[in-house]
Amino acid sequence: MNAEQTRNPKPETQNDFLPINGTDYVEFYVGNAKQAAHYYQTAFGFQPLAYAGLETGLKDRASYVIRQDKITFVLTTALTPESPVADHCKLHGDGVKVVALWVDDARKSYEETVKRGARSYSEPRAEKDELGEVVTAGIHTYGETVHLFVERRNYNGIFMPGYIAWEPLYQPEDVGLLYVDHMVGNVGWNEMDVWAKFYADVMGFRQLISFDDKDISTEYTALMSKVMANDNFRIKFPINEPAHGKKKSQIEEYIDFYHGPGVQHVAMATKNIIETVTMLRDRGVEFLRVPDTYYNTVLDRVGEIDESLTPLRELGILVDRDDEGYLLQIFTKPVEDRPTLFYEIIQRKGAKSFGKGNFKALFESIELEQESRGTL
Ligand code: FE2
Repeated sequence: MNAEQTRNPKPETQNDFLPINGTDYVEFYVGNAKQAAHYYQTAFGFQPLAYAGLETGLKDRASYVIRQDKITFVLTTALTPESPVADHCKLHGDGVKVVALWVDDARKSYEETVKRGARSYSEPRAEKDELGEVVTAGIHTYGETVHLFVERRNYNGIFMPGYIAWEPLYQPEDVGLLYVDHMVGNVGWNEMDVWAKFYADVMGFRQLISFDDKDISTEYTALMSKVMANDNFRIKFPINEPAHGKKKSQIEEYIDFYHGPGVQHVAMATKNIIETVTMLRDRGVEFLRVPDTYYNTVLDRVGEIDESLTPLRELGILVDRDDEGYLLQIFTKPVEDRPTLFYEIIQRKGAKSFGKGNFKALFESIELEQESRGTL
């Protein structure tokens, strides 16, 4: 299996036991949520939305909710050493704890997935205030990561009961990020098929694409990946595992530093990647660079594109094409000191794939970073 394997799933909407409207929010457990919120506002253009902490009656944690168009992040930190948030940060560093999924019926989502073998994280619970109720229920996925089903059709508040509006004076402009395109999980050796099967059997997802180590390898390092998607394709979870190469796979490096499986990157969509990446760069976001020679041949590979090559080259934006169109993408360096979580900025112009044509150039550039960290 050397070629990209694509399956075209038939619509099976009436059989979908887990209808999902989209990503509800992504919650990060971090060492200092106040400072992380400032970083995501300043660097990534997120807007302040809501807050919960000591002032709202919480004793062990504080959370800042920030939003950019359809992307909502929650940044949570521990207020006491006994808080489970503190344990999470001690082991993993800053990282994604909750990938919350927006559903119409959280109780049914929980029952259907637990019945199919999901491990319960939190039983269905309705939280109420004067603006209505939000029902949540959670299941475990890879590592210490959790999927929380969020039902908010009977709620009119800004985020959830228990949160107050957060309206700081400091509100930098957004950068045009629109929605979460996909979120990638890194799992351990021989675990990719286990978790692909979990998403298929427990959550009713289907495999869109698989890449083996021949697709995703350089002279030195390799990985494998399967992309799982829900029925309406709004949720796409590629699952990566390390593969053997002459040197250490970037997935293994992640697992070593994160101390287990976890979210590797969140891809966020924009409708103008040149504008968005220019703003991100000017605000201090650091991106991976491929060798400049990439741009000498890219148009031979992908054909005609709407954008001029000059800004793409200047910013380091990559291009790839599939049967349905093309895409533009770029990857940040890790956004914390451990080489773990990073971001992808993506603009799709018809393409529904993930940039396979860029893997080799990209991984060679990651190897240079690994080398500088002494982890290759
Ligand atoms: Fe990606």
